Amino acid sequence: MHNSDNLNCQKVLADSLFTPDQFLRPLEAIRLEHDRQLLICERLLQLANDQELGPVAQEMETLLAFLTRDLPLHAMDEEEDLFPLMKLRCHPGDGFDAVLAQLEFEHSVEKVLAFHIVIDLQEIAGARALSSSMRIFADLRSFTECQQRHLAWENGMVLPLAGKWLTPADLAEMGRNMAARRGITVIPQNVDSHGFSRVWALDR
Ligand SMILES: [Fe+2]
Ligand SMILES: [Fe+2]
Repeated sequence: MHNSDNLNCQKVLADSLFTPDQFLRPLEAIRLEHDRQLLICERLLQLANDQELGPVAQEMETLLAFLTRDLPLHAMDEEEDLFPLMKLRCHPGDGFDAVLAQLEFEHSVEKVLAFHIVIDLQEIAGARALSSSMRIFADLRSFTECQQRHLAWENGMVLPLAGKWLTPADLAEMGRNMAARRGITVIPQNVDSHGFSRVWALDR
């Protein structure tokens, strides 16, 4: 492992905490989160291929924050806001329903894999021996492959469709809900004197 990998990975995680104004553009925020997830996946795959527990232990905080905080929040952003809104707005010819079934299946697979990885990480953090040290590397590889395929569909098909069909009111609601999930209250204010932009007051 190289120190720079670790540092970059930690920076990626630090960046995963959205700034308040990013909730004004929730689709952009989701794409940014996808970019971070792809970088994390590269690192997870490297850890899986290296098959050494030392670097895993060194990056414990980063890995647990991603798997137990960022990933579940992101899944909720999609399952509770993005996907239901798209089911409502997409047209039959878009083929979204078929893709949605696959995306939901992949979310469930990712959750199971993340659950098993976190159990093993906690064992490592507690300096307890793993029943199989190879299992965590196999799970990391499976998780990464599933994530990369999933992100390709979401970036290539879902987000462009969302940009096409979701209304400004949909996006405002989605942004509010994403903020609330992270303990931030977003209060819309009146449009400015030109009527073009909106100022939001934020209260943590
Ligand atoms: Fe996603
Ligand atoms: Fe997803």
